[in-house]
Amino acid sequence: MTRGKLILIEGLDRTGKSTQTAKLVESLNGEASLVKFPDRSTQIGGLIHQYLTEPDFHLPDQAIHLLFSANRWEVAQTIKKTLAQGKHVVLDRYVYSGIAYSAAKQTPGMDLRWCAQPDKGLLKPDLTFFLSNAESGLRQGFGEERYESTEFQAKVREQFVAIFDTFEEAAYKKSHIVFLDTTNQSITQVHELVHSATTEFIRKNAEIDEFMYF
Ligand code: TYD
Ligand code: MG
Repeated sequence: MTRGKLILIEGLDRTGKSTQTAKLVESLNGEASLVKFPDRSTQIGGLIHQYLTEPDFHLPDQAIHLLFSANRWEVAQTIKKTLAQGKHVVLDRYVYSGIAYSAAKQTPGMDLRWCAQPDKGLLKPDLTFFLSNAESGLRQGFGEERYESTEFQAKVREQFVAIFDTFEEAAYKKSHIVFLDTTNQSITQVHELVHSATTEFIRKNAEIDEFMYF
């Protein structure tokens, strides 16, 4: 039996990641499980939740960055076990969000490389969808949590672009990353693109068994 595939949906806030990850898992008919980051259900996740929702809850930028990373390391073994059992794992945000949101703060010393370091050694996705949407800053519900401002999202967008340019080689980008502009596309249209690209990827790479790491 070959291992399952690690599929990631990334993007700015309110680009439809959670909707699309849920629909993808559902459409894979029990062959995949969903993992969302941050996982707010753990102790570390509880601190992250407080940081995001309580304006008076202060943490140094370095500390919250490390907590987001620790939150991924907490479930890293579970993800690997699931994949080893032949089941796919669909991720709602992962390492790229971790680097982009922290680097966007432009805190002295916290450059892209510093931000990337704590996630080194985590499993690398087989297939990443990067969703962008011209209207993501205008969607309903925007502005309730820390980071949810149009100005900050613009900075995060720049960091995402820089990350894919700095850390990912052209060959990896070409065969493992799909950049999807969802502006003016319905949920169903985006889902159909994501679903067909995923099933085709799984079919074409069925025999690949070794893991990739950041
Ligand atoms: P999330 O709840 O996924 O946002 P949404 O529900 O809008 O999709 O994530 C909460 C916030 O945490 C989001 O603004 C992005 C940020 N974040 C980081 O700053 N670092 C990280 O490592 C992750 C996973 C998320
Ligand atoms: Mg949010």
